Amino acid sequence: MRIVLGVSGGIAAYKSAELARALIQNGHEVQAVLTHSAAEFITPLTFASLTGRKVITDLFDSANPMEHIAVAQESDLVLVAPATANVLARFAHGLADDFLSTLYFAFRGPVVLAPAMNNNMWEHEAVQVNLETLRRRGHTIVDPGSGFLACGSIGPGRLAETDKIVDAVERALTPPVADLDGETVLITAGPTQEPLDPVRYLSNRSSGKMGYALAQAAVDRGAQVILVSGPVALNPPKGVEVIHVRTAAEMREAVFANLEPATVVIKCAAVADFRPSVESKQKIKKTSARVSLELEPTPDILAELGRKRGDRLLIGFAAETENLETEARRKLETKNCDMVVANLVGKSETGFESDSNEVVLALRTGETIPLPRASKREIADQILGQVLKLRRDLIAKQ
Ligand code: PMT
Repeated sequence: MRIVLGVSGGIAAYKSAELARALIQNGHEVQAVLTHSAAEFITPLTFASLTGRKVITDLFDSANPMEHIAVAQESDLVLVAPATANVLARFAHGLADDFLSTLYFAFRGPVVLAPAMNNNMWEHEAVQVNLETLRRRGHTIVDPGSGFLACGSIGPGRLAETDKIVDAVERALTPPVADLDGETVLITAGPTQEPLDPVRYLSNRSSGKMGYALAQAAVDRGAQVILVSGPVALNPPKGVEVIHVRTAAEMREAVFANLEPATVVIKCAAVADFRPSVESKQKIKKTSARVSLELEPTPDILAELGRKRGDRLLIGFAAETENLETEARRKLETKNCDMVVANLVGKSETGFESDSNEVVLALRTGETIPLPRASKREIADQILGQVLKLRRDLIAKQ
């Protein structure tokens, strides 16, 4: 495959030489593109020697003024490592003023970005917002590692290790395979809303992104997908059968009405655990300073599925603020699941609402697999990868 290796101007630029060599060792052709700042940190000659190709540093340094279009058309993947805060901002906001950025906007294939910068820069809201934009665009972000930084600070910002970046490139280059062909996956997503009166309800912060990412990944991998969705502001993936529900009781009904064809059930929805005991037919008036609500438990859909699952694979989720693994194992046992996906909630970059997640998979086999922070789509693919392994284990035992 032909890979564009974009190098932008940070102290980690010297590590890109090792990256170029690792990609070549994996059998790829590498076209290095250096920004002007990168060329201050490392010479184009280093990359020309390693890749055996002319290194591009300038939009106007060749006889062909359309070279950025030609390189975009000839390449299979664009990788930028290190990607500085400046490059991330230009990509996120559509600023095309050098070879690398014009190439990026002309390119239509997979993009992998490995940021590196000072820890305060990395944590800056503007950088994180730009990263979310790029993740939403479907790009792979290889998060930086934490440690001693060139500027003397300690924290997140070091360019990820070469093998981690190469792994991300290989994954992004692998075309989707229909490995879930023949499975019917029933997925629940989003929150439930438990009405209190005609204008108010109890709910939670679930956006549906994790469940919808699972639905998209499952359909891309050839599965039939039934998505039971609470109220969210997302467009359902194409090719998915969607059943819209509002309350936990409606979700329960939809799940059991559609259980029969399902071979895998994934309970990603954040079902409200309690609902008001009485739903007032009229808007509750503001007659006193304090109001007490009487709440009753909603049906525990996952627990009921655990009893009625038959030979289906059953995957639960657990939203936790601490002790991820212990809680995941507890839910795995008590709800009779094959796997529980525990995610950390209460942080801005994982769990509710964000475009990325960080989870621990607790499997019935006894394995515990931590998945570092990645886009919800990448996490979804890794969860489905484990579903496939569980299926293969079952077939092997028969
Ligand atoms: O939607 P996003 O903004 O992308 O956020 C994703 C997420 C954080 C909502 C998702 O990753 C997640 O963690 N979903 C499960 C949230 C949850 O309700 O966790 P829990 O630990 O309270 O519930 C455990 C399991 O029981 C879950 O599979 C849940 O679907 C299920 N449950 C819970 C209560 C209930 N009454 N019935 C259920 O079936």
